[in-house]
Amino acid sequence: MAGKLRNVYICSECGFESAKWYGKCPTCGAWNSMSEEVRQTSSQQKATVSPRGPYSRPVPIREIDTNEEARYHTGLSELDRVLGGGIVKGSLILIGGDPGIGKSTILLQICGFLGKTLRILYVSGEESGRQIKLRAARLGVDSENLYIMTETDVQAVVEQIRADKPDLVMIDSIQTMNFTDLSSSPGSVTQVRECTNAIMRAIKALEIPAFIVGHVNKDGAIAGPKVLEHIVDAVLYFEGDRQMSYRILRAVKNRYGSTNEIGVFDMGEFGLRQVENPSQMMLSGRPVHVSGTCVTCVMEGTRPILAEIQGLATTSGYGNPRRMSTGFDYNRMSLILAVLEKRAGYYFSNLDAYINVVGGLRLDEPAADLSVAMALISSLKDAPLRENAVVFGEIGLAGELRAVSHAEARVYEAARMGFERCVLPFHCLKQISQSSIPIELVGVKTVREAFEALCE
Ligand code: TYD
Ligand code: MG
Repeated sequence: MAGKLRNVYICSECGFESAKWYGKCPTCGAWNSMSEEVRQTSSQQKATVSPRGPYSRPVPIREIDTNEEARYHTGLSELDRVLGGGIVKGSLILIGGDPGIGKSTILLQICGFLGKTLRILYVSGEESGRQIKLRAARLGVDSENLYIMTETDVQAVVEQIRADKPDLVMIDSIQTMNFTDLSSSPGSVTQVRECTNAIMRAIKALEIPAFIVGHVNKDGAIAGPKVLEHIVDAVLYFEGDRQMSYRILRAVKNRYGSTNEIGVFDMGEFGLRQVENPSQMMLSGRPVHVSGTCVTCVMEGTRPILAEIQGLATTSGYGNPRRMSTGFDYNRMSLILAVLEKRAGYYFSNLDAYINVVGGLRLDEPAADLSVAMALISSLKDAPLRENAVVFGEIGLAGELRAVSHAEARVYEAARMGFERCVLPFHCLKQISQSSIPIELVGVKTVREAFEALCE
């Protein structure tokens, strides 16, 4: 199949193709994202990449059978929650994360559970059969229905799927797969896109669910074009600090469920263990009688989780004070500092200010505002807050405290974890049926009142 070779430039962010190089992609505006690939201009090549037919026919919507919507449970209820209740048949799920975070481990654990009843094809382009077997032994995975295929040629994988029709397919990882007919190297935009498309066509036709592992690039996005995220049904990210043992699984796209849910795991000697009580984990090792630390309750999907916020305000050594925030939006922090200064009389303008959310959680809820303010004020005044108190609430630009959703769930979580006082916006009290609350509720209207209610 000797075709003429030509060079194309492809944007690794959006997949835009052009005959010439651009410093900035004209379609998505990404800088320095165009990479060169060699392509054959034969018409046959197109035919191998996208084979024609069989075509589908229109069906009246009333005749479409939905009974098949049953989901496979993975044996990990934290994962089921993130997927929206389990694996939907025929769905393609992309799972991304840094190297060594545990992607292969979680896939093998799913195989261990589902392999008792289903036939599973595990395709690995990264590890040898022996390495996978060793890991499986460590995880206690020993299923006679689990087949390991070490292969990087995607056409061989697709043929195997069509011939064997397994119940579940794992591809580890998509960046190692390649189409031998395409001249670009594995991991390039074209290869990743075409391999995903080929696998998707195969599994959709046979209604087989599949997981594919995707590596992330240095910006934390799944390497390859954004179109990859558009092709698949669900995109899950595995996050966490390599130094710490816990891992958070988060859905950023899900056609069959909510994207708010998170799953919490703990990486141990024998693989990933589910964490059923994340609040306890997030608060373990919390310092007491120290200024600048505060506990809040955030909602991750439908689940309330307690988190510790730490703030530090120190004299600035330079002309421009530094502001840094980990786990909380930087701009939101600046806004809170401005409100504290203008509306509440706490002056930070010549101080460096730092915020850290302990445990690697990312708080993107306005309900965390008040706790950020409390941690900063506590550090500013060097006054420790009550160790048995929880606080939440949104801060408005006028310095007022605004009600937030799910107040009752948050309060109950605080009570369940043994906290004795909850400081919350006054307007939230209406949401809570006061009769049987096992915790003292203090409704406040301003930041200053909140601080006074929290002081020891
Ligand atoms: P792995 O699943 O290979 O990561 P990925 O596929 O995302 O690159 O996980 C590897 C890491 O997990 C490695 O640092 C070892 C650690 N690990 C454990 O701590 N316990 C275990 O039981 C297993 C299997 C791995
Ligand atoms: Mg791996």
